[in-house]
Amino acid sequence: MDTYQLAITRRTIREFKDTPVPYEILEKCVNAARLAPSAGNRQPLEHIIVDEARLLPQVFDAVAVWAGESRPKEGWPPGRRPKAYIVTLINAELEKELGAARRATLCDVGMAVENMILVAWAQGIGSCPVLSFREKDLKELLNIPDKYEVGMVLALGYPDESPVTEETQDSIKYWVDSQGVRHVPKRRLEDILHRNKFR
Ligand SMILES: Cc1cc2nc3c(=O)[nH]c(=O)nc-3n(C[C@H](O)[C@H](O)[C@H](O)COP(=O)(O)O)c2cc1C
Repeated sequence: MDTYQLAITRRTIREFKDTPVPYEILEKCVNAARLAPSAGNRQPLEHIIVDEARLLPQVFDAVAVWAGESRPKEGWPPGRRPKAYIVTLINAELEKELGAARRATLCDVGMAVENMILVAWAQGIGSCPVLSFREKDLKELLNIPDKYEVGMVLALGYPDESPVTEETQDSIKYWVDSQGVRHVPKRRLEDILHRNKFR
């Protein structure tokens, strides 16, 4: 798949096969994050790969919102949960020392995580970026020192769902139909694209 196809076929995946993700692929993702654009080349980010079976349910428990309102009431079946996580950390001490504005650091996080998402997707691995997590729980669980903040949690695994996108002019709420297919409404190109000047 070329880069455009990778970018447009990528969907957030939250249902996974019961198959582990090879560590080498996770490491490749982090290497791609390492080489992502960084404001002022300050590189205030570090990453923890979590793939130990014992830790996976504990990280999942630290995720506060998984699939929003489309989450089934009975919870997410253990076999279909993420098989690995990459926790992106912000070194807040280094950020301060190098005078990085928080909004620049947050852009760094987005760029690093998207690199990881696309590298994983190119290997057939789906992922879900998660911002609604319980930071205190994660810091305790993963021994994260005080000077670090959690910027993002990326949940990964081999996809066991095939979400579809559809164009929308109104609701942007994603939803699951009676066949279990997730529908992800996206604003239309003609509604968000401006050429030369805002029209
Ligand atoms: C910054 C950010 C934070 C997100 N946080 C969560 C989250 O906490 N839980 C979750 O289930 N999905 C989360 N997502 C995934 C979005 O819900 C998803 O990207 C959106 O529904 C669009 O679907 P798509 O990624 O397939 O295009 C997050 C995505 C982004 C970019």
